[in-house]
Amino acid sequence: MNSTQILKTAHQILQMNDFGGYTVPTQGLYPFQWNWDSAITALGWMPFDEARGWQEIEMLVAGQWKNGMIPHIIFHKGSDTYFPGPDIWGAGEKLESTSISQPPIVASMMLEMLRVAKDKELAEDKLVTLLPAIIEYHLWWYRDRDPENLGLVASYHPWESGMDNSPAWDEALEAVPQVTWSYQRRDLNHVDSAERPHKVQYDRYLYLVEFFKNCEFDALKIYENCPYKVQDVALNSMLYRASKDLLELSIEYKIEHPGLAVIEAELTKTQNAINSLWSPESEFFHSKNLRTGELCHEMTSAGFMPVYAGIVDSEKLPKVASLANRWAHESTYSLASTIPSSSRYEPQRYWRGPIWLHINWMIAQGFAEAEYPALAGKMRDDAKALLDKSGFFEYFHADSGAGCGGDNFSWTAAIAVHWLI
Ligand code: GLC
Repeated sequence: MNSTQILKTAHQILQMNDFGGYTVPTQGLYPFQWNWDSAITALGWMPFDEARGWQEIEMLVAGQWKNGMIPHIIFHKGSDTYFPGPDIWGAGEKLESTSISQPPIVASMMLEMLRVAKDKELAEDKLVTLLPAIIEYHLWWYRDRDPENLGLVASYHPWESGMDNSPAWDEALEAVPQVTWSYQRRDLNHVDSAERPHKVQYDRYLYLVEFFKNCEFDALKIYENCPYKVQDVALNSMLYRASKDLLELSIEYKIEHPGLAVIEAELTKTQNAINSLWSPESEFFHSKNLRTGELCHEMTSAGFMPVYAGIVDSEKLPKVASLANRWAHESTYSLASTIPSSSRYEPQRYWRGPIWLHINWMIAQGFAEAEYPALAGKMRDDAKALLDKSGFFEYFHADSGAGCGGDNFSWTAAIAVHWLI
């Protein structure tokens, strides 16, 4: 596909998925506004319609809770093609929503939007209005999700990581009871079951959803009692980078907010705390199960995200890069979301092996900035090859390169126009 074809198709996909000011990830399978999808998709709108790009973020912020949380899904309009919907979550304030969040990359995407914006006046206008809400969002993470001041925030649901059925969560999820009521999944109406999570995982995902509701969404009650509590290495890395980007934007536009000093102090804490996620045995970063204090064993591409954050020290960085080089050559296309030599690697099943372009874009950005251009270049070339071979799918089989999950996917369109041309 040449640049003109990519631009044309990407624009069509975004227009098709535009539900009126917000973009759904793909029709049918995901018919609402998702947090980190929208942040990336906003960037995808920039070459076509900058005002529409900024509007994407405005619609996301419209679902913000009073405590600052921006939910993982905002149910602007009803739909019967997705489960679990607002009736099961029982949450939301001005708008119905889920009661958890998702990787907080929105500030980083806003900085990226500013960089590519042609209309800097519009960008300034939007940023000045939106930044205070994003500051509140970051403060919520630090306050509600790190009440013990560990320097790393906790996540309460695999869906909050955005990497739903990653094998990194397998052990932590086993401690969660399964619901016993019967329900009908809707994802299997859209996608082959070989590419989706198993029922036993869904039973536990739903237990957690009910648990939050039973706790009346009380921050401390959940922190103390949640059967699933993980320091996610990728989420913390994205939060770190986004906090740096948020400070940069706030300085640029002279935003005054008492929370900025808090965020600055949190950055320093995370710089040290990230090392508690390093395993000397695997010489790699892992998430930590806070219920047991153990690192999650599996090696997943989440462990490369500290490179994207720019917080890996000079002793660890070459080790991580050499692992990435080996990993990149263990599947036909780089970089598989689970290390292919693992017994849990499944190259077609969702977060257990397939290639996700937005993740690889972030990791490649990290390696490029850390001066590993060859690795970054290979990841980009492989991403382009996948797009050429299979089009704008949700994720890709790491060996055959086949498109998997939903088609005409918004974040794939966004990454294609932003990274691959
Ligand atoms: C799936 C993905 C998640 C994404 C959502 C919408 O749940 O795991 O990361 O945000 O779909 O695309």
